[in-house]
Formats: sequence, structure tokens, C-alpha cells
Amino acid sequence: MTHTRKLSRGASALAGKARGVASLLRRKLAQAPTAETLELTAPEVVANPFPCYEALRGSGSVHFLPRHDFWLVLGYDDVNAALMQPQLFSNRVRDYRQVDGVLLGADPPEHATARRAVSHFFSAQALTAQAPFAERTAERLLRPLLDGAEFEVLRDFASPLVEEVIAHLIGLDKETLAAMRAAPGSAGDLESLFASFDSIIEAAAERTPLCDQLVREGGGVIPRAHARSLIRLLWVAGTTTTRRSVSSSVLLLLRHPGVRERVASEPSLLPAFVEESIRLHPPEHMLSRAAAVETELSGVKIPAGATVKLCVAAANRDPSRFDRPESLLLGRAPNRQLSFGGGTHRCVGAALARMEAATALRVLLRLAPDFRSARPLDTLRFVGFANDTERLEIKC
Ligand code: HEM
Repeated sequence: MTHTRKLSRGASALAGKARGVASLLRRKLAQAPTAETLELTAPEVVANPFPCYEALRGSGSVHFLPRHDFWLVLGYDDVNAALMQPQLFSNRVRDYRQVDGVLLGADPPEHATARRAVSHFFSAQALTAQAPFAERTAERLLRPLLDGAEFEVLRDFASPLVEEVIAHLIGLDKETLAAMRAAPGSAGDLESLFASFDSIIEAAAERTPLCDQLVREGGGVIPRAHARSLIRLLWVAGTTTTRRSVSSSVLLLLRHPGVRERVASEPSLLPAFVEESIRLHPPEHMLSRAAAVETELSGVKIPAGATVKLCVAAANRDPSRFDRPESLLLGRAPNRQLSFGGGTHRCVGAALARMEAATALRVLLRLAPDFRSARPLDTLRFVGFANDTERLEIKC
């Protein structure tokens, strides 16, 4: 073959490839969901919702999703603005009040009384007292798993760890903890979980010292029924979220061997790693609100009474706020991620959650420095899109 013929074949192969890429791009763009077509429960969206958030944000921060009958807010500034204005964006929504109508599902000024009563249990002093317990528990749970057999991170390590820490904080006895763990729905179906918890927690709350303390800390204005509701909230809010952050963090370490090496040799970097992990993979992607009056975000009118979902997962990757938003950067400072919410309802357990995740990872890296995934890494998905069904099997 002459040199010229070779060149012309090469050129036509290149042109063919370019046509292929262009048609792939056209197909991708055609497939990109619009607000009208987006189905958040579609398996491919649940598996990885981030490209959908990105595609939608390309045409604006605020969208009405007819298939879900709610408004989705994706931009950092709008999510933050809504969090800061509880008089416009109310927490009195069904999915919150189902868990608790006293704190999470309440608005100011009622919210303030309950908030004062619980904040006390999350002070820096209280946290310092919990840290050694979390460390001991993580070690006790992990040691029997170090025999080289596979174990599942969420089920065998993260869940029992965070459950024991919350039980310790609340003062739940061993029998109650065992009953909660065995409750139908504990694996992630919240509705059946609440139903089965009601009877267990109602009875157990009366026996916990925290119940009396809450009534006392509330200055007598917290009735016992409210104290029971708060205890149930602490259990649900403290377990469902934190276990996901531990599991997602382990997967991130597996996917980023360089970062893993750095945090293993310098554990003081773990808090920065946990912050990035929670920014990139928030345990809850969306926070619920109801528009209290007709209101406007980024020039889009939201009618009074409408359901609004504040997508912290999208806000945390908003390029207008975060440099290289898709990258895990240990040196990201400041890191004003919104996974713990903001304003009056900002997560009261944020410091506890950060401590638990960093402790779990420190103990794992120390006791099992060579832990590895039992399955090919590219088949694994992050938990966090409101389901706990993803499995992360590792071997130590
Ligand atoms: C990584 C773990 C966690 C994440 C990502 C998280 C996230 C959040 C978010 C986003 C909110 C605000 C919800 C809203 O504004 O709609 C919240 C509230 C709350 N969280 Fe957490 N949370 C975590 C762990 C915990 C822990 C360990 C506890 C303690 C037991 C806890 C207790 C609460 C409570 C009681 C509220 C209600 C606060 C209020 O309404 O004033 N959370 N959490």
C-alpha cells in the first residue's frame, strides 16, 4: 500500500469515528430528560441521578416536574435561599410529619422549643463523651470480620455501628435495640419501618432517661408525647443517613486509591475526606418543603401550597459555587456543602455524624489496611438516592 493510500484510509477512518461520536452526542442529547419527561424513580436515574440534575440545571435552577407534581430546585443559591426562609418554605410536609411533627416537621416559633431541648444532647461536651464509645464499638464490630471472608459494609458494619451509637445516646436498653433491628422495614422501607417502630419506641421511650430529660430540658413545655416523637426522630434521622455516609465513603476510598493512601497515612485528613464524601454523595438528595405563600426563586413563580424539593445533591455540585465540583479534593476550603441542610432546621446531629463516619473509616483503615472490594469496582453503585439496597461487599 502506498503512503498516500494509507493516509487517505486513516483520514476516512477518523472521519467515520467523528461521525460516530457526533451521532452518539445527538442521541445522548435527545435522551437527556426534560422537566416534562424526568422520572426520578426510573432505574437508570436511581442508579445515577447526577447527569439528570446537570442536564436540567443547564436550562434553569427551578423546574416543575409534572410526573411527580413537585418543584425541583437545583441551584446552590436557590436551595440555600429556601433553607434560610422557613416563613416562605415550610417544613409542615407529610413525609416529615410522618416521622415527627414536633421538630423536623414543625415551623418556627413552635420548632424553637423542641430544638432547644434536643440541642443540649449534641453539645461539644456530649460529643466528646460519645467518641470513645463509637471507637470501641467500631473495633468490636470489625474484629470478627477480619478473617478474609466477605462482609457487607452497610449491613455488617455501618448499620450496627450507628445504631449502637444512637442507642447509647438515647439510652435504649439492649432488648429495645434488638427489637428495633428486627423490625420489618429496617432494611430501608421507611413506611413499614415507622409503622413497626411506633409500638416499640412508644413503650421504650418511657423507659429511657432521655425522655424525662427532654421533658425537663424543654422547661416543662415539652409534653411526653412530644418527647417520644423526638426520640423516634433521633433514631430515624441518626441511623438511616449516617450508615449511608459510611458505606459511600468506603466505596469512594476504593475508587480513589491515591486518596486512600493519603488518609491512611495521615488520618487527620479524614474529616476533610468525610466532608467531600458527604458533599458528593449526600445520604438524602432532596429536602422537602411546602410553599407557604406564592413565592419566587430565580424568577420562577411557585404557587402557594406547592410541594418543593430542594436538591442538595445538585446544589453541592453547582459549578457556580464549587471549583471542579465533580472532583474529590481533600484541600477544598471552605467546603460549604448543603448535605446537612441550613437555617433553622440545619441537622442537629451533623457533628456526631461527622465523628461517626471518620471513626468508622479510621478503624477500618487501621485494622484492615488491605481491605478490597469483593466485586469489580465498576459494578458498584453509591447508596443515597433514598434507598439502602445497594450492596458493598468487601474482604479484609
Ligand atoms: C451524614 C449523616 C446525616 C445527614 C446527611 C443529615 C442530614 C440532615 C438534614 C439535611 C437535615 C435538615 C432537613 C431539612 O431541613 O429538611 C437534618 C435534620 C436533622 N437531623 Fe440530621 N443528618 C445526619 C445525621 C444525623 C444524626 C447522627 C442525627 C442525630 C441523632 C441527626 C438528627 C437530626 C435531627 C434531629 C434533625 C431535625 C432538626 C430540625 O428540624 O431542627 N442527623 N439532618
